[in-house]
Amino acid sequence: MKIVVLSDLHFISQNDPRKKMIENRKFLRDGWGSFRMLAGKIRDEAPDLVVSTGDLVDWYSNENREFALEMLSEMRTPWVATPGNHDYSTYTWDEAQGKDIPVKGGSFEPTADPLWKAAGVDFSNRVIDADGAKLILVHSAFSGVAAGTGEWMNSVTAGCDFGGSGGETPILFTHVPINTKPVWDYILGEEPDRDMDKYIMSKSPELFDQSIRGKIPQVYTGHLHFPGEVEAFGTHMHMQGLSVVMVGRSKPGMGKAAVFDTRRVGEVRTLSIG
Ligand SMILES: [Fe+2]
Repeated sequence: MKIVVLSDLHFISQNDPRKKMIENRKFLRDGWGSFRMLAGKIRDEAPDLVVSTGDLVDWYSNENREFALEMLSEMRTPWVATPGNHDYSTYTWDEAQGKDIPVKGGSFEPTADPLWKAAGVDFSNRVIDADGAKLILVHSAFSGVAAGTGEWMNSVTAGCDFGGSGGETPILFTHVPINTKPVWDYILGEEPDRDMDKYIMSKSPELFDQSIRGKIPQVYTGHLHFPGEVEAFGTHMHMQGLSVVMVGRSKPGMGKAAVFDTRRVGEVRTLSIG
């Protein structure tokens, strides 16, 4: 199977009522044109499945959700997603302050989750069998995984192939980069001021040694908005940048998606609109 991986689309609809927020975030609001171009490239690739590693929208609203679904439909391919923090965050109008204030994801998630589900977007942890590979989607939107996730991952990867011995290859997709020293060092090497409580899985420091090291050879994450390829004790970490191109703001590696075949998971190509 041919898989495309993209991340951090941060769609914002013009129909969302928070006009000031839309203006504040116009560098992302105006990125949709670049996604249209990337969707064209994806159509040309004709993958069997697209996986998003989080942040389909810049904040949850029904308008942003519908816009994201409309844009993603331009790929004309089935897609699945693991949630990002922005998919579970929103803003609410505060009369006293006279502005929209953030409702942090942790409290809004129980409201947003069924709304995503009703629209056909399932953010729950799951495994997809994909011709020689097992695609493992894990919710880490708030920099950690739910209790029991590591054990569940171990049961999923039991009997799988880590080093090319011919079994199924497990591939992990999750929003927040994995908490292991090579990843940590890479992020701080690129951006020394990054908040490592937020931008690495600070709430699940045990996950790498418990359920990834020596078990899962390929991991795709998002969240950073800059790309990186890091080898961590035999596991290849594909840290993806923004798959949209921001307007008027620059980050390395924008407007790209990864492509690979589930029979040759180590051979990853880049789709780019640049
Ligand atoms: Fe993001």
